Amino acid sequence: PAHRPLYGKHVLITAGPTHEPIDPVRYLANRSSGRQGFAIAEAAAAAGARVTLVAGPVHLDTPPGVDRIDVESAEDMAAAVKKALPADCAIMVAAVADWRTRDYQGEKIKKRGSAPPSLMLTENPDILAMVSASSKRPDLLIGFAAETENVVENARKKRKSKGVDWIVANDVSGDVMGGTENKVHIIRERKVEDWDQMSKMDVAWKLVERIADHLNAHD
Ligand code: C5P
Repeated sequence: PAHRPLYGKHVLITAGPTHEPIDPVRYLANRSSGRQGFAIAEAAAAAGARVTLVAGPVHLDTPPGVDRIDVESAEDMAAAVKKALPADCAIMVAAVADWRTRDYQGEKIKKRGSAPPSLMLTENPDILAMVSASSKRPDLLIGFAAETENVVENARKKRKSKGVDWIVANDVSGDVMGGTENKVHIIRERKVEDWDQMSKMDVAWKLVERIADHLNAHD
């Protein structure tokens, strides 16, 4: 029915930051409130989808009707995403940390002497690229890109290099990070939409509408 246009569809969403532990009390992280991803989960569930939300550490309530899986690190997030596939649509909104420490210290690192410890880093898995290359690749795969300059141009490149269908490009030159509003561009293969600044919830409603149109047109 028109008011539940995602009924029967499975939508997989990642949201929030990841925390990469250094020792039992310290971590590396990205700045992300999780608000945009949670808003999309809420809108998709309201549109009738079965929604799996893989969430990094955030301070947000689970939207009604959403299956939430809490994770901490990028590796945990990658494993949870793999397990949640297949899906009709995946939207990777999480701000995944690019690196983790190479050697996790099982005991708290002591402040001794004058020399601070150095952190050796290693690359985290790219979850979006992994899903794109998967035999269970969703019909519609959507990535996010936070850019401060040449927003559309950089997002076009990212769409290709990551092998995704659409990129939602955030202009983060303003105060989008942690805020409740967002200004986005939707980058598709042959079409770019520039949306006005609006609330993250309104971005979510509008994006879910586009997703439903796409999935239902390709049934
Ligand atoms: O390359 P960049 O981090 O800018 O790409 C952003 C997009 O890729 C987002 O959709 C983000 O959720 C996803 N991503 C991911 N795993 C990573 C890094 C980014 O899924 N390790």
